[in-house]
Amino acid sequence: KLSDQHMYKLKNKKILITAGPTREHVDPVRFFTNHSSGKMGYAIAEKAAQWGADVTLISGPVSLSAPENVEIVRVDTAEEMRIAVFERYREADVVIKSAAVADYRPSVQYDEKMKKQEGPMKMEFERTIDILKSLGEEKDHQVLVGFAAETQDVEYHAIKKLQSKNADIIVANNIKQEGAGFSGDTNIVTFYHRDGTKKALTLLSKEKVAEELLEEILPLVNREGQ
Ligand code: CTP
Ligand code: CA
Repeated sequence: KLSDQHMYKLKNKKILITAGPTREHVDPVRFFTNHSSGKMGYAIAEKAAQWGADVTLISGPVSLSAPENVEIVRVDTAEEMRIAVFERYREADVVIKSAAVADYRPSVQYDEKMKKQEGPMKMEFERTIDILKSLGEEKDHQVLVGFAAETQDVEYHAIKKLQSKNADIIVANNIKQEGAGFSGDTNIVTFYHRDGTKKALTLLSKEKVAEELLEEILPLVNREGQ
C-alpha cells in the first residue's frame, strides 16, 4: 500500500530508465551479450511510476513484464538502445542507466547463418558507443545516474566512471559479494555523488534499493532549473 506522501514526489518529472542486457548479433542465430536480469531497472521504473513520474523504460531482452503505468520501449542492440535514449533525452529530467550494455559487437554481421568449420575460430569485435558517456557530454539540466558492476576496486572504478561519464550519481556494487549478483532479488550498493559524498547501503531487496536511489535523486531533480 502506498502512503500519500510518496505518491507525488516525482510528479511531472520525466524519467528515462534503461534496463537489461543488449544483444550484439553475429548472424541470424548467434549473439554476444552480458549477464543482466533487468530486475534492478524494472524495480526503479515501477517505483518511479508509483511516485508519480512519467516513466519510459528502454529495455533490452529480459523475461519481465512491463511495470504498471510505465511506457516500455523494447530494444535489442546497444545501437538501438542509444538511439531510443537520445530520441527522448532533451525532455528528460532524469536518466538512469541500469542496462548492461555490450562494450563490443562483432565487426561483421552476417545475413546468413555461419557454418561451423574445423578447428578454432577467430572473430574481430569493434567497440560500441558508450551511451552514458555520450549523454554526459551533452548534458544540460538532466540528472544522470550510471551503474558500475565491478569485481574488484569498486570505489576506485566507481569514482573514475563518475568523472569520465560526467554522471551525477554512480550506483556501484561488487558482483562477487553474496546477495549482490545479477539474477537475484537483492543488491548491496553504494551511491557515489559528484560532490564527493557517498552512501553505502546494506543488503536490501531491489525494490528497496530502487526506493533509496530515488530518494537520493530527489534533491538533485528539485535543484534543477534554479
Ligand atoms: N554504459 C553505456 N553504454 C555502453 C557501456 C556502458 O551507457 N556502451 C553505461 C552502463 O549502462 C552503466 C555505466 O555505463 O550505467 C557503466 O557501465 P560499465 O560496464 O560498468 O562501465 P564501462 O564504462 O563500460 O567500463 P568497463 O566495462 O570496462 O568496466
Ligand atoms: Ca562495460
